[in-house]
Amino acid sequence: MIEIRDVHKKLGSLEVLQGIDLTIQSGESIVIIGRSGSGKSVLLKHIIGLMLPDSGEILVDGVEITHLSHDERRQVRRRFGMLFQGAALFDSMTVEENVGLGLREHTRMSPEEVLAKVRACLDMVGLSGVEKMRPSSLSGGMKKRAALARAIAVEPEYVLYDEPTTGLDPITADAINELIRGLQQQLRVTSIVVTHDMASAFKVGDRIAMLHDGKVIFQGTPEETRRADDPEVKRFILGEATEAPFPPRHMEIAARRRTGVWRWLGR
Ligand SMILES: Nc1ncnc2c1ncn2[C@@H]1O[C@H](COP(=O)(O)OP(=O)(O)OP(=O)(O)O)[C@@H](O)[C@H]1O
Ligand SMILES: [Mg+2]
Repeated sequence: MIEIRDVHKKLGSLEVLQGIDLTIQSGESIVIIGRSGSGKSVLLKHIIGLMLPDSGEILVDGVEITHLSHDERRQVRRRFGMLFQGAALFDSMTVEENVGLGLREHTRMSPEEVLAKVRACLDMVGLSGVEKMRPSSLSGGMKKRAALARAIAVEPEYVLYDEPTTGLDPITADAINELIRGLQQQLRVTSIVVTHDMASAFKVGDRIAMLHDGKVIFQGTPEETRRADDPEVKRFILGEATEAPFPPRHMEIAARRRTGVWRWLGR
C-alpha cells in the first residue's frame, strides 16, 4: 500500500503539489488524470523517490521513504517498475540490452538467464523479433511496449505508467490497455497509471483520481467518475475548454502579424 500524506512541492516559483493526499491499495489499478502541467509526472517521481517533497510523507508498505538515505531509497525503488512518459529508452543500446538493464544491474542472473527473461518479457508485451534493433528504429507503439517490457522485467510489485497510450492509434492504445490490465491480473502488481486518455482511464482503472490546482479534487470508481458533479471533473471528461486560450481579438492580430498584412498596412 502507498500512502501519500499532505505532500507539497514547489518547483521554481510554482507550487506544483499543494497538499496531495492519496492512498493506493495493493493490487488495485488507480488512474491519475489531470490537465497538462497539473503535476501528474511530478507526483509519480515522488512516489518512486526520484523527487523529494518539501513537506509531507510518502509511505510504501508502512515505510516512510522521504527520510531514507540515498541507498535505502534505491532499495525501495527496486520494487517499482516505471514506464516513463516518452519511453526513455537508451538509443545507444539494443532493445534487448534496454530491457535487460535492471536485471544486469540489480540481480545476479547469468547473461543466459537475463536473455531468457528479456525474451519472455518482450513476448509478454507482444514484441518479438526486434531484440537486436535500436529504439530509434521502432515505432512509437513499439517503443512503449519495449519500455513496458523493461519496467516489468525486474518483477516489480508496483508499476507506474506515465501516459502509456498517448500518441498511439486507438487499436494500439487499446492493446496497451489490455496489457496493463493483464499484467495487473497475471503478475498481481499494483498499477498507477497517469493519463489524459479517458477511454484508457475507464478501461484500466479500478479507481480514478483527478489532480487540479496541486490537489486531488476527486477520487472514485469509473462509474462514480462518469456521474461526478464536480465541474472540473465533468469538463475534463467531456474535453470542454473553460475559455478560449486567447481572446479572439488577439488571435486576429496574431494571425495578421504572421501573414505580414500588418506590415503591409504600415502598422
Ligand atoms: N524538474 C523540474 N523543474 C522545474 N519545474 C518542473 C520540473 N518538473 C516539472 N516542473 C513543472 O511542474 C509542473 C507540472 O509538471 P508535470 O510534468 O508533473 O505535469 P503533467 O501533469 O505530467 O503534465 P503533462 O500531462 O503535460 O505530462 C509544470 O509546470 C512543469 O513545468
Ligand atoms: Mg506528465
